[in-house]
Amino acid sequence: MHLYGTQTINSKGHLEIGGTDTVRLADEHGTPLIVYDTGLIRSRARAFKKAFSDEGVPAQVAYASKAFSCLAIYRLAEEEGLALDVVSGGELFTAIRAGFPAERIHFHGNNKSREELRMAFEQGVGCIVADNFMEIGMIGELSKETGRGMDVLIRVTPGIEAHTHDYITTGQEDSKFGFDLNNGQADEALRILSETPGMHVLGLHCHIGSQIFDTEAFGLAARSLIGKMDAWRREKGFVCPVLNLGGGFGIRYTEDDHPLEPDEYVRSMILTVKAAAAETGYPLPEIWIEPGRSLVGDAGTTLYTAGSMKTVPGIRTYLAVDGGMSDNIRPALYGAEYTAALANRMKLPHDTRYTIAGKCCESGDKLIENARLPETSEGDLVAVFCTGAYGYAMASNYNRLPRPAVVFAENGEHRLAIRRETYEDLIRLDAEPAAVGKEGMR
Ligand SMILES: Cc1ncc(COP(=O)(O)O)c(C=O)c1O
Repeated sequence: MHLYGTQTINSKGHLEIGGTDTVRLADEHGTPLIVYDTGLIRSRARAFKKAFSDEGVPAQVAYASKAFSCLAIYRLAEEEGLALDVVSGGELFTAIRAGFPAERIHFHGNNKSREELRMAFEQGVGCIVADNFMEIGMIGELSKETGRGMDVLIRVTPGIEAHTHDYITTGQEDSKFGFDLNNGQADEALRILSETPGMHVLGLHCHIGSQIFDTEAFGLAARSLIGKMDAWRREKGFVCPVLNLGGGFGIRYTEDDHPLEPDEYVRSMILTVKAAAAETGYPLPEIWIEPGRSLVGDAGTTLYTAGSMKTVPGIRTYLAVDGGMSDNIRPALYGAEYTAALANRMKLPHDTRYTIAGKCCESGDKLIENARLPETSEGDLVAVFCTGAYGYAMASNYNRLPRPAVVFAENGEHRLAIRRETYEDLIRLDAEPAAVGKEGMR
């Protein structure tokens, strides 16, 4: 069994996270409960930053907060000196409420509304990552309207798409995000932005995929962006001070995943960027990255209480837990795989196979096929590992299940980051049914 970050097994045979017994956490907060090992998040953040500073390369490490967004994680990101990537007015609002410095926020998204962009101007975000021509028009208008300038990155699709274990290059990438790098769109975006008063183009941005395990695809992307930047320098005399290579660094969900350490990804990125810049004499740009999953993914563990069981003879035994696709849609959405353990009996051999199912009314609501646990009974505490990214962030109230509580555990202490939803919360936004008149409703 693989333990992550600060996870240990204590003398009672219980799983501990951040020096706190998970059985105690489940007793105190109920289940499902998502426990974040914030020590692990901090060490990852520091490792990414150190990898750049060790090489003396000016950089910005922005937490891609779509992976997990709440006041507490924004505060932690601020404590660690990270920058922040937000993709909606809601994420921006939460970050500002958390006291995150606006000038370190990058605003992303393929369909930012005028209201969201106005909010970005009013709050004074550090930069907007421009995604399409309509948005460029709106940014220009808002700059005029508010009398404020704006730093802008141009998001491009470089025609390189990284899949989990390999990558493909396509002449014309089919993506809803960004400007095509090679068919003239990116050049046109630069032209319009350069002619729009108040716009200050920082450089190019790309994000080539997620859960990437090697460095080659990042290298290809870096080379292709620097190629364009160099062309702009030669043709227009314009030098980009920033190259943003996005996120996508992989983590270990199962034993088949072999991620690199943060410094390995970063060192290789730096080598490629330096080499590509040196070949053309291009001044070394600042390198910005946007890790999401690799900062919070394996730091999150979801604790569930085991409930009903059903054996389909000769096929499988279903073990149902008190959550499911409502708190973790990833297995149902794209076949994501996870591992689990029995948090209250960690020392027993985990050699019985179960299909861990959720409690939602969908046959596809299965969290793990072929999980290996000890013989499990009702009331046992099932820990599903690596649920920290795109889990709570994508949670829903399907079947009117309240969303779980979230706690942060570190150095033997823990604190509530998000309280559990109550049934009252569930009806908070519902309009009261209209009073039925004498004749009733038709
Ligand atoms: C633009 C951008 N940056 C960063 C990320 C974070 O990716 P990951 O969580 O794989 O690091 C994403 C994820 O979708 C993204 O779209």
